[in-house]
Amino acid sequence: MKKVLVTGAVGQIGSELTMVLREKYGNDNVIATGHRSKPSEKLLNSGPFQFINCSDIKTVEEVVKKNDIGTIYHLAALLSAVAEERPQLAWDVNMNGLYNVLEVAREHNCAVCTPSSIGAFGPSTPVDNTPQDTIQRPNTMYGVTKVAGELLCDYYYKRFGVDTRGLRYPGIISYETLPGGGTTDYAVEIFYEAIKNKKYTCFLKQGTYLDMMYMPDAISSAINLMEADPAKLIHRNAFNVTAMSIDPEDMANEIRKTIPDFTMDYKVDPVRQAIADSWPNNMDDSAATEEWGWKPEYNLEAMTKDMIEKLTIKLK
Ligand code: SER
Repeated sequence: MKKVLVTGAVGQIGSELTMVLREKYGNDNVIATGHRSKPSEKLLNSGPFQFINCSDIKTVEEVVKKNDIGTIYHLAALLSAVAEERPQLAWDVNMNGLYNVLEVAREHNCAVCTPSSIGAFGPSTPVDNTPQDTIQRPNTMYGVTKVAGELLCDYYYKRFGVDTRGLRYPGIISYETLPGGGTTDYAVEIFYEAIKNKKYTCFLKQGTYLDMMYMPDAISSAINLMEADPAKLIHRNAFNVTAMSIDPEDMANEIRKTIPDFTMDYKVDPVRQAIADSWPNNMDDSAATEEWGWKPEYNLEAMTKDMIEKLTIKLK
């Protein structure tokens, strides 16, 4: 079989997606790549790993050619809060990185899966039941790169026939690898602090509703989309997908069902609050359901139960 390449394999999603892909397609058929961060032993011991720099097309082309790659999961990107701190770097990594991956995919006939995000929406987007096709005028560098990325992937499909597909991910909750500087990170931090210290200071204010999803659903959504019948795909590159719409209080209350003495207070970070306020409360993901059968497995209750169980073991 043609092999699979994962960029950003050391990151929150990549570290877990790589392991699932290795289980599915065979360890040696999935090439994990990272830029600078140290890969885990698990990642290194389970299959091939290589350092590349997606902003340098030569390193992308080399790994694709050498390994006979057929599909690229391109996850290397800066998240929203870090992108606001370093907008120039965010443009370089998120845009030039994607452009290079698409160019190499065009030359070497690879399919490409690239996540977009709730960050591709902005303050003029309808916040409730946000439609699949709607106004997208984000006011963050992260959002600018995500909208441009959606359009660029559409372009490469229409113009060159590259099999590009993607999802608009919400905040992703997981226990394996921490997210790297996003606005939805509170939804991961809260679990670590609840288990370790039974208290958490939240950087988003009460009532900030955002879409979220548990990692197993994030992974299966990407793999299922890549395996979907292309004839049925109308929105190839930017499917709204969500599993729950919650605010910090919903999360804290759910955690209290298992850790009753957990307490939370607030110290709002104005930068991340402004980003969160510009994003939808909850997206309409019916296009994903209709076009390729998207259905999340974990709601707030099931996710919280599993997170606490798994993270408690990890933090022992
Ligand atoms: N989780 C991401 C962030 O907060 C959203 O795509 O940046």
